[in-house]
Amino acid sequence: MHEDRIRWNEKYSSREASGSGPAEIVRRFYTLAPKGKALDIAAGTGKNALFLADQGFSVDAVDISDVVLRKIPIHPNLSPICADLDTFDITAERYSLILNLRFLNRRLFPYIREGLAKGGILIFESYLEGPGADYCKSSCRDYLLRDNELLHAFLSLKVLFYQESRIPDQKDFCHKASLVAVKQ
Ligand SMILES: C[S@@+](CC[C@H](N)C(=O)[O-])C[C@H]1O[C@@H](n2cnc3c(N)ncnc32)[C@H](O)[C@@H]1O
Repeated sequence: MHEDRIRWNEKYSSREASGSGPAEIVRRFYTLAPKGKALDIAAGTGKNALFLADQGFSVDAVDISDVVLRKIPIHPNLSPICADLDTFDITAERYSLILNLRFLNRRLFPYIREGLAKGGILIFESYLEGPGADYCKSSCRDYLLRDNELLHAFLSLKVLFYQESRIPDQKDFCHKASLVAVKQ
């Protein structure tokens, strides 16, 4: 959506690209994926995409913000793709690893399942609705997972790890759902 691009570009314009490393769930589970093509959905500053590129994956890093994509250091294994995930198509059976972190677009669920090659790994972690989730106004509830929603959405894959937890985030305690699954 055009408004998303404006909003995220504004956020990223006033921020230095983060130098932090990959998310813990990526570090912990990426080795389950066969080396090959990886897709980072809503890649943001590219910290996870760059990590995978360094490990030898050929990474498509998709984000709506051209501002943040320009801040990602050039890497021979990384292709930044500026696109709106409301309309973006994921090519079927293309990826040996798909990341979806801190972003939710339910339209993508079937495309994510189809986009994995046989033996491909999905690592998905995003915010969960829950009591005390006052870090998020009611206007953004659509971007929060419901209890068990992530698990049910990917039951056609073999789920290797699933957790719903309340963990400290930068500003507040946040609820998160985390899933790792393989396409058999
Ligand atoms: C909270 S950040 C998460 C970034 C990264 N996945 C991470 O965990 O650090 C959400 C990202 O989603 C991107 N985004 C928001 N709406 C989008 C859309 N419609 N299409 C593509 N990217 C979008 C934003 O630009 C932002 O980089």
